[in-house]
Amino acid sequence: MQNPIKSILILFSYHHNNTEKIAKTFAKVLDAQIKSPEEVKPEGLQDYDLIGFGSGIYYRKHYKVLLEFVENLPQVKNKKSFHIFNQWIYKKSH
Ligand SMILES: Cc1cc2nc3c(=O)[nH]c(=O)nc-3n(C[C@H](O)[C@H](O)[C@H](O)COP(=O)(O)O)c2cc1C
Repeated sequence: MQNPIKSILILFSYHHNNTEKIAKTFAKVLDAQIKSPEEVKPEGLQDYDLIGFGSGIYYRKHYKVLLEFVENLPQVKNKKSFHIFNQWIYKKSH
């Protein structure tokens, strides 16, 4: 049965495609499409109930391509969203 909640995941994952691996699991559970920021027109997002954003962390932030995409989105109400990321884990060696 198709998920009644229409979801999309906007992903920028490039260094080791690590975020993509996580995103694929989310996409499977949500029955969501994965698209890159370049593939998505902001006005097209009106068709979705749930919008996910994902990238690796670069210099303590989401990757800039994803941040710029989000900054240029219009303000909307009553839209659910989430974000995913992954990053290095530091181990102290003393
Ligand atoms: C240039 C560069 C900068 C990074 N900066 C950070 C950082 O500030 N903090 C952190 O925890 N991880 C940092 N990382 C690690 C990435 O977040 C990590 O490799 C992540 O898995 C990349 O995701 P992706 O493969 O989906 O692009 C950095 C990696 C690179 C190559």
